[in-house]
Amino acid sequence: MRTFRLQLRFLLPLVVVLVGAAYLALPIVDQLTLRWFARDLGLRGSLVASSLSESISDALQDPKGRKLQQLFNRVVEDERLVAIGWCSPLGELLVRTPTFPRDMSCADAERLAAGADANLLVRGGRVHVTAHEVTAESGPVGRLILMHDLSFIERRSLDTRRYLIAMIAGLGVIIALVTMIVAQLSWRGWMKGTRALLRGEGLVRPLGGGGSPELEPLAMELRSRLRDLEDEYRRGQSNGDAHWDAQRLQALLRTQLRGDQVIVVSNREPYLHEHGEGDTVIVRRPASGLVTAVEPVMRACSGTWIAHGSGGADREVVDRHDRVPLPPGRSDYRLRRVWLTPKEEQGYYYGFANEGMWPLCHVAHVRPVFRESDWEAYRAVNQRFADAVVAEARSDDPVVLVQDYHFALLPAMIRRRLPRATILTFWHIPWPNPESFGICPWREEILQGLLGSTILGFHTRFHGKNFIESVDRYLEARIEHEHSVVSYRGEETFVEAYPISIAWPTPEEEAAKPSPAECRRELGERLGIPSDHRIAVGVDRFDYTKGILERLHAVERLLEKYPQWQGRFTFVQVAAPTRAVLEEYRAFRARIEAVAARINERFGAPGKEVVRLLPQHHEPDDVDRLYRAADVCLVTSLHDGMNLVCKEFVASRDDERGVLVLSRFAGAARELPEALIVNPYHVEEVADAIHRALVMPVAEQRERMANLRSSVREDNVYRWAGRMLTDAARWRLRERVSERVQRHGEQGRTGTTG
Ligand code: G6P
Repeated sequence: MRTFRLQLRFLLPLVVVLVGAAYLALPIVDQLTLRWFARDLGLRGSLVASSLSESISDALQDPKGRKLQQLFNRVVEDERLVAIGWCSPLGELLVRTPTFPRDMSCADAERLAAGADANLLVRGGRVHVTAHEVTAESGPVGRLILMHDLSFIERRSLDTRRYLIAMIAGLGVIIALVTMIVAQLSWRGWMKGTRALLRGEGLVRPLGGGGSPELEPLAMELRSRLRDLEDEYRRGQSNGDAHWDAQRLQALLRTQLRGDQVIVVSNREPYLHEHGEGDTVIVRRPASGLVTAVEPVMRACSGTWIAHGSGGADREVVDRHDRVPLPPGRSDYRLRRVWLTPKEEQGYYYGFANEGMWPLCHVAHVRPVFRESDWEAYRAVNQRFADAVVAEARSDDPVVLVQDYHFALLPAMIRRRLPRATILTFWHIPWPNPESFGICPWREEILQGLLGSTILGFHTRFHGKNFIESVDRYLEARIEHEHSVVSYRGEETFVEAYPISIAWPTPEEEAAKPSPAECRRELGERLGIPSDHRIAVGVDRFDYTKGILERLHAVERLLEKYPQWQGRFTFVQVAAPTRAVLEEYRAFRARIEAVAARINERFGAPGKEVVRLLPQHHEPDDVDRLYRAADVCLVTSLHDGMNLVCKEFVASRDDERGVLVLSRFAGAARELPEALIVNPYHVEEVADAIHRALVMPVAEQRERMANLRSSVREDNVYRWAGRMLTDAARWRLRERVSERVQRHGEQGRTGTTG
């Protein structure tokens, strides 16, 4: 309707102008026709004169002129001739029909006939006057004045006018119709183009044809400029000096995301409720880098966290909707627990996620195992979490943060049910190269599932690049490498690196910590470590990707190569039990225990072990005290997305002491170059690094630690979440503009207003 009115606004003036032009043109047309008729009448007059000349010569024989009078009277019965006058060669009016004007002389008539406007009114009708010489054999005998009736010309002129007006009106209607059709078509074309442009497809023809080829270069240029601007903006944001903390993240959520609902989905829950002694229920924080990073963000976002309820007493503390407020005693956000049957957990979590995807992505020389039944369970559980997201969503466009390799199919499943949701997926582990990834029998499905995300984040650009190359290899998708955008089946996914981090301790938290000396004393007493010993620590889950075995070999080599450390060095390894149902993990643990025992046998004595293996779960405060007690922290992952242990160690050392030995295969190595970077497979190199750390002068320790601390303080987890959510907000804005344009276009087409 709106388009129609718009077109009327244009068409009405057009019709008015056309009719006006017609009226202006009519007098000109009249004059022209009159002139043509005058010429015709002149010729007709000559014809009449010559055909009458014989009859006139005969009639002139009658001296009284009666014959001539009769002849003229007969002739004027012709409706085209009104009057006739006969003038002598001397200009005397000798005979005239009764209709000839009484007061008109021959001279008057001659003058009139010779003039430009030879018309006059006779008895209320217009006539045209012509004069013709009549000659006989003897020569000129007189002049014939003929007065022709012009009324038929006027009648014709009136007809012509009518035809002309009808023709112009018809023309106007045709022009109007053509204009309307062209306007409709081009409006649709533009709307389609604009929508495509805003969707990011631009006017560039998608795979399979369509689009307007002639506009391709323009559209490409336009989109590329827009993306450049966005990239610049994002770079500006991420390089910005502004400090990120919980308050700034909250402000971002309030302003840029206008308080939109945030839903986090992960397999591991942030707190587990377990049965304690007697009837008590205790709360435990699991050993998980994901939980370490996402929990503080969730406190700031006050959203809903959906996770697998895996604690022994989890069901006892939830309400009837399976929800529990967290963190305990504060209720900053709520956890919605999803229950899995043992069969589901076996297939989805132990099977596909941890025997398939985990080794597939880590390339740590453990073969991935892919079973059809595990894949089925993985798909079914992903669907159950998608249902939970839909159930928890308060609007049709929540911001959903999907976490990790347990949920590769979830983004597309959510997208199908909540097409307007903003889905940020973060892959916490590495992404392998396309060849390694290609061994997964369901590689296409995994990629398609992840491409349901609005934004897909990795810790490093390298992993993002591997993902894009895998898409390139196995799917028919359009990839804009320059802007890291993958378009698949009309949807775009922005692939970006967001290095994860930890929440930097607040001054109050730092003030509440025991001093490093106290921590050292306490640890020494607890484990019986002599006070003159130097202490190295490792804090990991009992996982083959963490390089614990390689680390032990390096400790053994250190004691061989640098015997001065024998009897003066202790290595404390916290190894939280993990995925122990799996044979690979049980065998790994047994192997570690055997190697530790061998080293202790070689270089220690009962009660004076060199390697102290602590295979229990440790709460974050215990781990923090261990970091503060240590001289060296060993992080020797064989492959790690980021690794947050090294960042936690740095954050705990407010005394600026201690040395970090860090694997170059952990994502964190790119951010923390002041650590002693090592290749964990190279035992000699790691042994040398440990020695170097042990003898490092205090000044150098301080300098390195101060730099490391300032990096981690700035690139904290609020910046990680803030950057992702800022990108999400930008994306949502773009989507909203696009929707508005689309709505406008549809209204234009259907004629609705609003
Ligand atoms: C890694 C994964 C996390 C996982 C954690 C602990 O950090 O990226 O998703 O939570 O390991 O593993 P678990 O299987 O015990 O949750």
